[in-house]
Amino acid sequence: MKIIMLGAPGAGKGTQAKMIADQYSIPHISTGDIFRANIKNNTELGQKAKTYMDKGLLVPDELVVDLIMDRFKETDCKDGYVLDGFPRTIPQAEALDNALSAIGEKVDFAINVEVPDENIVTRMSGRRACVGCGATYHIAYNPPKAENICDRCGKDLVLRDDDKPETVQKRLSVYHEQTQPLIQYYEKKGVMKEVDGTVDMKDVFAAITAILGE
Ligand code: AP5
Ligand code: MG
Repeated sequence: MKIIMLGAPGAGKGTQAKMIADQYSIPHISTGDIFRANIKNNTELGQKAKTYMDKGLLVPDELVVDLIMDRFKETDCKDGYVLDGFPRTIPQAEALDNALSAIGEKVDFAINVEVPDENIVTRMSGRRACVGCGATYHIAYNPPKAENICDRCGKDLVLRDDDKPETVQKRLSVYHEQTQPLIQYYEKKGVMKEVDGTVDMKDVFAAITAILGE
């Protein structure tokens, strides 16, 4: 099963994608997480990506497409994947379609997690991410057991550099301009589904499993 998660920054794509990956035993592929891991390891790709990410801008398509095509070659992708944060532009969606149609495959579901802009800034300012394993928490909606310590690996939790309110506003406007058109793109392909992302995380997940099936 090949699933794409769509939605504004902070809509809960990562939260839901992790649950989908566990439930359906497919890898969760987040381009944002891959870039953050590269930044942490100070790779050349990480240095390039950081200059865009810190400003709330998208990383250029060619960098993202090369990276994701390499990721698809890994054996864990043979039964599908859940993509979180890719595609984010029409050229990225076209690159994905071309790569899939070359091997006789296609995207099965594009799921839009719908959350209005008003809710997003609160969510982002309360988000904490683990420096070790990348797990995500929210200080009010999904707090860790011990303050600022990851439940899974015991490392520190931090506010992401791009979660400052002014950067979040920029990310939102970039989303509306460059990523939201993908909703229509996948509607035309007949694979677009929408879920209400403002309800409790478990209820969002229940709506998603109702779409994907058991
Ligand atoms: P990326 O890491 O993908 O960031 P994003 O799309 O901005 O999305 P977020 O990760 O911020 O939010 P999310 O939807 O995953 O929400 P989460 O589950 O964490 O990308 C970062 C940057 O990398 C981009 O800006 C760009 O520069 C670059 N990049 C990445 N991919 C790219 C691409 N393809 N092309 C070009 N550039 C690319 O949830 C948010 C918070 O809310 C959490 O604290 C969570 O606990 C909480 N929460 C979740 N669900 C609920 C709920 N139902 N109720 C209450 N709280 C909830
Ligand atoms: Mg995310």
